[in-house]
Amino acid sequence: MTKLKKTSVSFFALFILLFSACQKNENPKLPTPPDSNSPKFKATDFTAPEQCASCHPNHYNEWRSSMHAYSFVDPVFFAMHERGQKETNGKLDQFCTKCHSPIASLTGETPPFFNRSALSPISQQGVQCDLCHTITKVNNPVGNADFELTPGNIKYGSLANPAANSFHQSAFNAEFDRSRICGVCHEVKNDFSAALEETYSEWTRASLAGMSFDCQDCHMPIYAGQAATNGPQRDKVHRHYFVGVDVPLVDFPDAALQRQMAEKLLKTSADLSVSSPDSVAAGGIFKLSVTVANSRNGVFSAGHSLPSGVTAERQMWIAVIVRDQNGRMIYQSGGLDANGDLMDQHSALNPNADPNLTIFRQIMRDENGKEVLFFWQAKAVENNLIPPLAERTANYQIQLPPNLAGEISLEITLRFRTLPPYFLRELGLSDLVANVPIVDMEKILKQIKIN
Ligand code: HEC
Ligand code: HEC
Ligand code: HEC
Ligand code: HEC
Ligand code: HEC
Repeated sequence: MTKLKKTSVSFFALFILLFSACQKNENPKLPTPPDSNSPKFKATDFTAPEQCASCHPNHYNEWRSSMHAYSFVDPVFFAMHERGQKETNGKLDQFCTKCHSPIASLTGETPPFFNRSALSPISQQGVQCDLCHTITKVNNPVGNADFELTPGNIKYGSLANPAANSFHQSAFNAEFDRSRICGVCHEVKNDFSAALEETYSEWTRASLAGMSFDCQDCHMPIYAGQAATNGPQRDKVHRHYFVGVDVPLVDFPDAALQRQMAEKLLKTSADLSVSSPDSVAAGGIFKLSVTVANSRNGVFSAGHSLPSGVTAERQMWIAVIVRDQNGRMIYQSGGLDANGDLMDQHSALNPNADPNLTIFRQIMRDENGKEVLFFWQAKAVENNLIPPLAERTANYQIQLPPNLAGEISLEITLRFRTLPPYFLRELGLSDLVANVPIVDMEKILKQIKIN
């Protein structure tokens, strides 16, 4: 990184620090407990996405491959949810479904111990068109699905002058072009006020609001075209792929495309740099520093921490390999055991065998400070996520063998995966392990002379 960029990074870091100090730590309200006897809405109050497809083919085709469409198909969600159901005696059901399928929850289809196979087709479509486009208000503090819905003939959006059509009325609602409408689900606290997902507050703390950078700017990029087949040509129509880092692990429409887009996003999300001496003595200590920044070429890449969202599950780590001139490995950190797990406390085969492992994630703890794996068990959380424009450095002191000649080669990689094998095994989903891609976000190769 050049000097100039470093200065601007530290300036921004200070800015962020000042801002977070001023931030009031408000707790989002918890979703209202289920009342499946007098549900707020009926399934027939909502329209299926297929009915929007004839006039909004782009929106439909993009949305159906998105993680929003996947949210109530996701086998990991259901396995985790079933586990939580047992451990909390059904108390969690409404909590989980209010974000993953708000229609299911608001129509009373998900009382304690609900039966997945009895869900109406519309509830199985998760975060769908008619749900988002009938949100009329986002309450404060933003989070935990605290929004108001007005299902019916009027579809709300950010077009100020929508053309008339025979199927529905349209109405402008400024919230649709702002982060709050996303933050209402992308900000999760549990019963114990543990901040499980903080994407929205990370964004607020980075003061991106003042810079008019909203979630939609990056996750719903614009293109010129028609908002509806029978509508006018427009400069700004929004993509509905909602690309992030996650990909479907089971058969799903356009899964290959979603994988390709997530991989591309990850490969343009971070800056990686390495600092080390140009030469080193055989038998000596080789000092290496690896820096990861939440920026791309020194400018903003994400509007929140890297990684963000369900960061207790996500894994972003530094893999270091040092080889001698014959290609023999003389040092490694960030490697995988025979199960595919990193060799930290979660490795079943080589626990704690990689003391220098650097991984960026959230750790959830119970009241005794013991690490727990599931949301509902968390009393406290801590993390080493990288805020926007900030950077973190990992230092390695590597003992080199005495009989080295020529040069050593370094291979430093920043790697990412959405769900680790130990976590899928714990949920009885071992067969999905092979479907989780590991993406190499950045890689640096370097030769060091032996003197
Ligand atoms: C997660 C919430 C969400 C879902 C699900 C969703 N949309 Fe949208 N949609 C939005 C937001 C937000 C905007 C406005 C973005 C902006 O202005 O920044 C939008 C914009 C639109 C527009 C206006 C034109 C444009 O692209 O700006 C249409 C039409 C539309 N959506 C239709 C659909 C249809 C049809 C579906 C389902 C196939 C769907 N949406 C699913 C949130 C959603
Ligand atoms: C008969 C065709 C037709 C069908 C079916 C249809 N729409 Fe539309 N919709 C339109 C047209 C035309 C517009 C205006 C487009 C424009 O002005 O660019 C529109 C606009 C919208 C907007 C933008 C409103 C605003 O003011 O920002 C949203 C949101 C929307 N539709 C959602 C939906 C959803 C959700 C469905 C399915 C439940 C649906 N539409 C079904 C034709 C249709
Ligand atoms: C300046 C562009 C930008 C803005 C603004 C932005 N994001 Fe992101 N987002 C990214 C990038 C790049 C990634 C992939 C790297 C990462 O995980 O940080 C990402 C990843 C994500 C993920 C997946 C995180 C994970 O690791 O599982 C979610 C969820 C997400 N964003 C939601 C949001 C929401 C909600 C907002 C608004 C509050 C938002 N984003 C604002 C660029 C942006
Ligand atoms: C009704 C709740 C809800 C709303 C509103 C919502 N989301 Fe989501 N979003 C979810 C859920 C639930 C998932 C995860 C689904 C799964 O993987 O099981 C998700 C997933 C995502 C992902 C993929 C995350 C990843 O790890 O790759 C992105 C990106 C995203 N949302 C962006 C947005 C943006 C941008 C908005 C606002 C326009 C928005 N969301 C509004 C509930 C919501
Ligand atoms: C306030 C909204 C909200 C609540 C409540 C909520 N989630 Fe989520 N969940 C999300 C969002 C948003 C994402 C996407 C974030 C990301 O991808 O990083 C997500 C992601 C997930 C994922 C990761 C999906 C994947 O395929 O990688 C799982 C699993 C999950 N949630 C399970 C649950 C369970 C189980 C509960 C109840 C104990 C729950 N969630 C409660 C909003 C919520």
